[in-house]
Amino acid sequence: MTNLTFTMIKPDAVENSHIGAILNKINSSGFEFKAMKLTKLSREEAEKFYEIHSERPFFNDLVKYMSSGPIVAAILKKENAVNDFRKLIGSTNPAEAEEGTIRKMFATSISANAIHGSDSDANAKIEGGFFFQNHEIF
Ligand code: GTP
Ligand code: MG
Repeated sequence: MTNLTFTMIKPDAVENSHIGAILNKINSSGFEFKAMKLTKLSREEAEKFYEIHSERPFFNDLVKYMSSGPIVAAILKKENAVNDFRKLIGSTNPAEAEEGTIRKMFATSISANAIHGSDSDANAKIEGGFFFQNHEIF
């Protein structure tokens, strides 16, 4: 899945009415939408999605938070998508995120940090496949 990445607009950003502004920022930064849906994770789905963090102390809070409200899931296309998107979203902790990044602009805390971005091509493929079937990716 080279040139593709996966993102979720997290429950805090949906709740705070930032969907439109975030999608606009993504689009105007050169990313093309290949798939997108407004949906909600069950507790079990959130546990599965974040399985890799299951030993971390914040796992329970993370799962609870990620299943607390609707999210927007999307597959994005751009040259160097994974790395460029990680730059666009900024540091995990919004207090450390650079000016102009999505987390700096829209996140409220390290746990409610507005947006997810895949950290590798392999994970982008797994995470995109978690939400979308092949025929839903344009
Ligand atoms: P994602 O794009 O969401 O994967 O974030 P990331 O890649 O910048 O961070 P990482 O994968 O290390 O952690 C996943 C998510 O767990 C983060 O986005 C945070 O919401 C949450 N998280 C990470 N570190 C902490 C922490 O120290 N405390 C709490 N409460 N949450 C954390
Ligand atoms: Mg991550």
